[in-house]
Amino acid sequence: MCGIVGYIGYRDATAVVLEGLQRLEYRGYDSAGLAVLDSTGTLQIRREAGRLQRLVRLLEQAPARGTVAIGHTRWATHGPPSRRNAHPHASPDGRLVVVQNGIVENFAELRAWLQARGYTFASDTDTEVIVHLIHYYFHGGGLNGGGLDGGGEALETAVRAALSRLQGPSAVAVLSRDHPDRLLAARLGHAGGVVVGWGEEEMYLASDIPALLGCTRRVQFLENRQMAILTRNGASIRTLEGRPVDRPVVQVNWDPAAAEKGEYPHFMLKEIFEQGQSIAATLAQRLDFGSGLVELPSLHLSPERARRLRKVTIVACGTSYYAGLVGRHLLERLARIPTEVDYASEYRYREPLIGPEEMVLAITQSGETVDTLAALEEARARGAFTAAIVNVVGSQADRMCHGAIHMHAGPEIGVASTKAFTASLVDLVLLGLYLGQARQTLAESEQAALVQDLARLPGLVGEVLEEAQASGRYAELARDYGGFANFLYLGRGLQYPVAREGALKLKEISYIHAEGYPAGEMKHGPIALIDGHMPTVALAPRDGVYEKMVSQIEQVKARGGAVLAVVHHQDRQLAARVDRALPIPQAHPLLTPVLSVIPLQLFAYHVAVGRGLDVDRPRNLAKSVTVE
Ligand code: AGP
Repeated sequence: MCGIVGYIGYRDATAVVLEGLQRLEYRGYDSAGLAVLDSTGTLQIRREAGRLQRLVRLLEQAPARGTVAIGHTRWATHGPPSRRNAHPHASPDGRLVVVQNGIVENFAELRAWLQARGYTFASDTDTEVIVHLIHYYFHGGGLNGGGLDGGGEALETAVRAALSRLQGPSAVAVLSRDHPDRLLAARLGHAGGVVVGWGEEEMYLASDIPALLGCTRRVQFLENRQMAILTRNGASIRTLEGRPVDRPVVQVNWDPAAAEKGEYPHFMLKEIFEQGQSIAATLAQRLDFGSGLVELPSLHLSPERARRLRKVTIVACGTSYYAGLVGRHLLERLARIPTEVDYASEYRYREPLIGPEEMVLAITQSGETVDTLAALEEARARGAFTAAIVNVVGSQADRMCHGAIHMHAGPEIGVASTKAFTASLVDLVLLGLYLGQARQTLAESEQAALVQDLARLPGLVGEVLEEAQASGRYAELARDYGGFANFLYLGRGLQYPVAREGALKLKEISYIHAEGYPAGEMKHGPIALIDGHMPTVALAPRDGVYEKMVSQIEQVKARGGAVLAVVHHQDRQLAARVDRALPIPQAHPLLTPVLSVIPLQLFAYHVAVGRGLDVDRPRNLAKSVTVE
């Protein structure tokens, strides 16, 4: 997760920004930088790859002093971690700098558009298109355009014009040497927050509250499509269309740990809403959106060895196990490799028949789950190639396997796993593509269609989240259905594991009994359960088994059962047939589980909140089960 910090006041801006960036280190990053407006009115930029300490050392060697600055910790999405790709990025004349959190999905198109107008690029990042776009509009449309009047309004107008061209979630901060009296910040979609901090004759900016706690506890939160203009005496907030907005200044009394929740009441909700950004980070550095080629260097699996693999066995627990069930479809479909999935706690005792031509793949957010580690030990002892899809870098699973694919989802604090689940699914798609490319089992057209939707995935996730936030649908659903004692979750094919995961989410944080079932199994027993006291959650996107799912839904309805169905938002016909429709956008079938799980995460969350339960720390559960 990238981090943004800004300061305008009378103190040493470099020191204030550095302290703020240090407080954001928990978000994970791979490079850092800052820009300071010095006493001559020059923008001094200092950037460094690696840990923040390296930037501190660089500043000791080459100080940069002033009272206005913006800083950034970067989690690479486009362009490897390096000094040249670290933020801030500057306009061609060096008079304007920008830092960004999020992803510019249409950056290739914007880059070409700017290059056609004479702009050159000094980095591989998507962010650089933003600073050049602002420069373009600020100068009246070109490198040497006539230029607007250069007044403060011109800068705000130019920023609005530039941001209106961006697709995908973004949070940006802008500093111009032509306007030393102000800082601008804006938020598009769910690219992580933008928080304005209020001081006395000094103002602050940050992605998250922890960065500000050392300076102020009076904050304002920007919402989607809003811009803040900060001066030493305060901040004004407008929509991107320029309309003034009244955002309350709230007093933050949280302790630093609680503050990491930012504007969210629970870590779980924050992590649900981070999924657009975390998926962008999961994809970063691994998928060339142009060629579709996947690189997984940390897996340490050569294409030759990938070709020799005869089987993959996925071992995991809980939510990670359900990700593995999706993974079986993905690996068999994309790489044509026989794939088995087993509970790690079962696998470790069943004396598995495996050998060196097999991969045993663990999926584990924490990398510390004792059953999963034991299964890996068993696999390694029997000569298999062991790998882990893991979120915590440096965890035991990460260290003990021959190779790893890191989720890059950022810290997951809520006990109920959400963004790690969707990150696992994306990593499994990347693994399927990687193995498929090595084994040449991928049709060109299939690969192209899949890669195209992978590039759109962060934005599609953002659409689900924005619709959820705008409609308030899930809080209402929880009010209407949170009182039932039992639920059935039904899905088929790729959606069956999602049904299992959705049921687990409800169980583990609301303590309501819920069972995920393959929809085709209904007539073999479970349908006896259906009546008005047993609502059914059905996953019914338009995929290869859609008609079957519709038939299952009709069977439930015919027996008086209520149906809450996840449907494609254009599917008005099915939406009219069920009691509640939970809409998701269309996407490649192999990616739809990433979208269809979000309504189930939100439903479980709101039911638990409605029942007054401790969402982040449910009873009897631990974030990582490190004992048997
Ligand atoms: C999921 O919401 C639960 N917290 C639990 O099932 C979890 O997925 C399981 O314990 C596995 O954890 P891991 O991914 O860290 O190995």
